[in-house]
Amino acid sequence: MAKKVILDCDPGSDDAIAIMLAMKDPSIDLLAITTVNGNRIVPKTTENALRVVQFMKSKVPVYRGCENPIFCNEIPGRKPGLPRVTLNDCHGDFLPLPEARITAEKEHAVFFLVKKFMESDGDISLASVGPLTNIAMALRIEPRIAGKIKEMVIMGGGHTGANASAAAEFNFYADPEAAKIVMDSPIPKVILPLDATWRACITEEQNQELHDLGTPEAIFASTMVQKRIDNLKVNDVSEHNFQLRHTPGTVASALLYRYDNDRAPIHDALAIAYLIDPTVITELADANVDIDTYGGPCDGRMVADFHNTKKFWDPITAKVALNADAEKFVEMLFRNLGKK
Ligand code: RIB
Ligand code: CA
Repeated sequence: MAKKVILDCDPGSDDAIAIMLAMKDPSIDLLAITTVNGNRIVPKTTENALRVVQFMKSKVPVYRGCENPIFCNEIPGRKPGLPRVTLNDCHGDFLPLPEARITAEKEHAVFFLVKKFMESDGDISLASVGPLTNIAMALRIEPRIAGKIKEMVIMGGGHTGANASAAAEFNFYADPEAAKIVMDSPIPKVILPLDATWRACITEEQNQELHDLGTPEAIFASTMVQKRIDNLKVNDVSEHNFQLRHTPGTVASALLYRYDNDRAPIHDALAIAYLIDPTVITELADANVDIDTYGGPCDGRMVADFHNTKKFWDPITAKVALNADAEKFVEMLFRNLGKK
């Protein structure tokens, strides 16, 4: 029986590959796509989602979501307006696909999420691969959806990695309050932070093999992967200035991660890969997860308490992934995107 999934995203090149993977794998029944302000403003992330749906000749509905973070950057130290993305990032404004001739649904994504989950039998999984604004707003409107979401797989955060600042990953950095609302909710969560996604990179050589599969999806995906790899090669314009937080001199630091610049992560697609085959994640630990929302140097940082120091009063509602099987992930991409 295929897994019912709703994908909340901010396309975004890796979001686009996540959408295609969800559409191609028979174990996923993609019910809907909801879009959010993130990599780009929501008119653009919605246009990009529609372009992928059109490209895939799919009937999956797209619902446009929130335009701004929940707490619009009123905290001192936060810049007004849109999330603080770097210029010349690996996404671009619009995906290299024909302009969408299809349109989004009339209903706002947040109201759609509330209605869909409340009407459900609790058998729908939610994959969130952008800022968590839509889900947080839905929780505020109808807290009971927390008991109706089968499982939430979230690409976000970094236990040792950061890419939007020296301390935070982009999806949580773009709307820290939304991330905190979701982390504080009882929704069963699997969080795939940069620690896992950066251990499931695709190499330039593998990307050429992906391209050579020759299907439209494989060629399109490989074009975006190459852009991600090329972007990371340029020292000062990395994906979001990805930084691995080294604690020099420790064994952990030496073992932590060796980044070769011939590869790139496809962060969001790993969330779908986990829903297809959870064994793609090789290390998963229970944790209480909190988010820094104080607008200081750690604004938006995920704090994973693996030592369960709050066990006396806070139930564990999250599992945090710390490692992944890159070969299994890349094989899954090949298997699905190479299908005629
Ligand atoms: O930090 C990676 C995340 O930020 C991905 O979801 C990517 O699409 C961007 O939104
Ligand atoms: Ca994303």
